[in-house]
Amino acid sequence: MNLKSLIIDNQSVVGVIGMGYVGLPLIIRFSEEGFKTVGFDVDDSKVDMLNKGSSYIKHIQPEKISSAIRQGFSATIDFSLISDIDIIIICVPTPLGVHNEPDLSYIQSTLQSIKVHLRENQLLILESTTYPGTTEEEILPIIEDAGFIVGDNFFIGYSPEREDPGNKDYTTKTIPKVVSGYTENCLKLTKTLYDQIVDQTVPVSSPRVAEMTKILENIHRAVNIGLVNELKMVADKMNIDIYEVISAAATKPFGFTPYYPGPGLGGHCIPIDPFYLTWKAKEMGMNTRFIELAGEINTAMPNFVVQKVGEALNDIGKSVRGSKILILGLAYKKNIDDLRESPTLVIIDKLLDLGANIQYSDPFFDTIPHTRKYQLDLKSKPLNTEILNDVDIVLLVTDHDDFDYILIEEEARLIVDTRGRFKASDKIIKA
Ligand SMILES: NC(=O)c1ccc[n+]([C@@H]2O[C@H](COP(=O)([O-])OP(=O)(O)OC[C@H]3O[C@@H](n4cnc5c(N)ncnc54)[C@H](O)[C@@H]3O)[C@@H](O)[C@H]2O)c1
Repeated sequence: MNLKSLIIDNQSVVGVIGMGYVGLPLIIRFSEEGFKTVGFDVDDSKVDMLNKGSSYIKHIQPEKISSAIRQGFSATIDFSLISDIDIIIICVPTPLGVHNEPDLSYIQSTLQSIKVHLRENQLLILESTTYPGTTEEEILPIIEDAGFIVGDNFFIGYSPEREDPGNKDYTTKTIPKVVSGYTENCLKLTKTLYDQIVDQTVPVSSPRVAEMTKILENIHRAVNIGLVNELKMVADKMNIDIYEVISAAATKPFGFTPYYPGPGLGGHCIPIDPFYLTWKAKEMGMNTRFIELAGEINTAMPNFVVQKVGEALNDIGKSVRGSKILILGLAYKKNIDDLRESPTLVIIDKLLDLGANIQYSDPFFDTIPHTRKYQLDLKSKPLNTEILNDVDIVLLVTDHDDFDYILIEEEARLIVDTRGRFKASDKIIKA
């Protein structure tokens, strides 16, 4: 049977490489549609957990994994099993290096691990976010060197992920999916595959277009968030509440999309992906000034927050050194347990440097996991009257829905609010 019939008849085996925030929900979705699935990862602790039906991502319930297992799902660190797979989807990290250059080492090491196990009539799709040209420059040569004829006896696609962790309004099934292929046959197969698991696929003419589409989506957010962050600081000097301005402007029924300021960008995508394009554009002698400017403003937001904390303490005759500060929320956005690139860590680090006594409360983190940059050994405190009365300032960084905002407002002495969660009053300082 050819690959297209295998896909349509639900006879194909799907292997997803990288069982993280993107790969795990994706493989569960394939499993829900009756595909036999294998999850590949280099982290054997994740593989063990998955095979036991446990989840290490808070918003993915263990029941989803158990039901995938009943549907034939298993996880492995053994890449020789790639030869049993019909469709291989790569969802490994694409971070930045120390000089903001793309770090494709995860994709490259994946390709090295699988290349000797590839066989004819497989479809290989990259989902990791990356600069335009990656699929053709990194994947195609390896497949051709292995002796395959792409579009004939081997197929290559690129389809970017649009996961929005924690957002209950959209699921992997309902988010339209951009699909592309290196040849017409590659595109047809890639589209047929995703048509089985999402409501709408959006075919584009080449992997480059699909790669650039994903980057555009993230640049669009980074630049607009940079814009409102800058306007927030201007409005603050003018004694204007930027949130009131945004909600008034958002009543315009056309030509305006609201974006909200915050303590700085976080997550795996928005602070990182735009710089993939910046790096690639340099190859063409081009600069991406909007990206750089937005990056500059967004990266400086934690400084603005720390400055506002310092001013608030100054107003009550205290210095940052020796003050007691309770940080609320660690993740880069509300209701999730993802700490990657979170500005909270930058803010905590700066306040500790200035001599503050820091405590934090976050229902998603009992302790602060160590990251490459920060090793903060703190334990989450229960959010109650005692602690709220004890500290000089409560600093709201991540506005999780679980926090008791009425209690916080009643019991805290001063609140520095980076999310526009509280209405203006004597004890609220917007930051
Ligand atoms: N998290 C998001 O919301 C999101 C949204 C859209 C796109 N993306 C993109 O998707 C890609 C994956 O991101 P993520 O958030 O799922 O990352 P993640 O860190 O949550 O997961 C990546 C997984 O890959 C595994 N891994 C690393 N190297 C490997 C290798 N050589 N072989 C097999 N497994 C390996 C890791 O152990 C980890 O489990 C990135 O390119 C990211 O930019 C992420």
